[in-house]
Amino acid sequence: MIMGKQKKMSEIIVQIDGKEVKAAEGMTVLEAAQSADIFIPTLCHHEKLEPYGGCRMCTVEVEVRGWTKLVTACVYPVEQDLIVRTRSEKIDKIRKMILEFLLAHAPNSPQLLDLAQEYGADKDRFEKESSFCILCGLCVRYCAEVKKKNAVGFVDYGARREIRFIPEIAAKECIDCKECFPLCPTSYLQAAFVLTKSLTLSPDSW
Ligand code: SF4
Ligand code: FES
Repeated sequence: MIMGKQKKMSEIIVQIDGKEVKAAEGMTVLEAAQSADIFIPTLCHHEKLEPYGGCRMCTVEVEVRGWTKLVTACVYPVEQDLIVRTRSEKIDKIRKMILEFLLAHAPNSPQLLDLAQEYGADKDRFEKESSFCILCGLCVRYCAEVKKKNAVGFVDYGARREIRFIPEIAAKECIDCKECFPLCPTSYLQAAFVLTKSLTLSPDSW
């Protein structure tokens, strides 16, 4: 998905929460909202990275030619006369569910706890499976797209999916970088922990 990165110049008018917003063709709904200081919560979005659409926290309601649907604002492109609602009972319910699920994995994340308060999410709704990672991919994608190092990646699938640093690359690149740490929505300690672990294990154990 590259919509967010390739802006053409023709102007588009959209309505977000009742406010008329000027956007450029190729912008996402999230970018249009941000340009008008309208807040949409995100967990896997970063302005330097290609849109990913992984966490669905940015779910909004759009109305196109009389049809209403739920979309992820960080990947959905603007179009003329699009009507966007960033809050509704339905949207808040979706965000609440997402947060309750994610809090089972990262129960102490200040960012998740703040959002949980906003959306009335119960942090104890699901049994804790603390992996301390919500698989947003920010660290992985930042290292690949911005740093071009691929020192950290995803391994395994489903419930076993997790991030890992590649010791051979991490030993050379990460010590003086660590730019991915503060991006982590569950607090940067998770990336720090996994990095430390990777550097203290021998490559043979991977
Ligand atoms: S360690 Fe943090 S930044 Fe990396 S994928 Fe997990 S939650 Fe996202
Ligand atoms: S911020 Fe849009 S899906 Fe994660």
